[in-house]
Amino acid sequence: MYQPKKIRKVVFPVAGMGTRFLPATKASPKEMLPIVDKPLIQYAVEEAVAAGCTEIIFVTGRSKRSIEDHFDKAYELETELQLRHKEQMLEQVQNILPKNVTCLYIRQAEALGLGHAVLCSQSAVGNEPFAVVLADDLIDAPKGVLSQMIDVYNQIGSSVIGVQTIDPSQTGSYGIVETLQWLNFNRIRSIVEKPKPEDAKSNLAVVGRYILTPRIFNLLQTVERGAGNEIQLTDAIAKLVEYEPVLAHAFEGTRYDCGSKIGYLEATLAYGLKHPETGVAFREVLQRYATR
Ligand code: UTP
Repeated sequence: MYQPKKIRKVVFPVAGMGTRFLPATKASPKEMLPIVDKPLIQYAVEEAVAAGCTEIIFVTGRSKRSIEDHFDKAYELETELQLRHKEQMLEQVQNILPKNVTCLYIRQAEALGLGHAVLCSQSAVGNEPFAVVLADDLIDAPKGVLSQMIDVYNQIGSSVIGVQTIDPSQTGSYGIVETLQWLNFNRIRSIVEKPKPEDAKSNLAVVGRYILTPRIFNLLQTVERGAGNEIQLTDAIAKLVEYEPVLAHAFEGTRYDCGSKIGYLEATLAYGLKHPETGVAFREVLQRYATR
């Protein structure tokens, strides 16, 4: 049976300016914003680890320390928790990453766009297919979205892009794909960054999950600055589509756009309601607010 190369490496671009969350993101990346008790980046890393990724590559910007510290050993905190016999908490901080997972940090000196951030990971990724996860797209799914996408990739070894149907009025906020049926797959025919609703070929939007073949790096080197004067990953994918099959995977799960304040608040609400520690009490709090 055909077996494509295993997806071992996952890139987390965390070097964006996060302007929509200023001043919270002045000294710390937006990926460190917590949903109840875990930062966004930890949810995303857990999804990638559950999908079998073992090499984590963070592309960081000016405020990388907090992410590095979060995934590093915290000697003082661990000693303190041990002395206070807080075993459960100790376990939580010690087991953020399984032992077989390694982390690497690469600096994106200037926030020149998502495409540029991915290009910065080229030497760390090398010549193998890899995943890209945007942690501000938090997706609650019975089976992690990256696992779902790796299942598709394993059948054929092609790039796979996570997509979701959106309201047609919202196309100007997303990369929009046009697909066609090919074998058992939805193959991308075209992809355009942030088209106006009247120009959009569909309402299938790209969300922050990608499996990419390494050819994307050569293409990223040649793309000009696009929308927002940034080097857009979408523009390189548009070229990739000309060379090889690129599939769209309409994932199962609920997505929260935690790059926006409303999406972030909604995620806090949803995760707060189902958290074993807060669920019941939080529901009561919400009922009080509903009658105000
Ligand atoms: P966004 O488009 O949400 O931009 O980035 P942003 O700068 O983070 O946030 P706003 O719009 O100013 O509020 C999507 C993803 O790409 C990363 C971000 O960290 C986020 O995960 N990114 C973006 C980079 O790593 N580098 C960049 O130059 C741009």
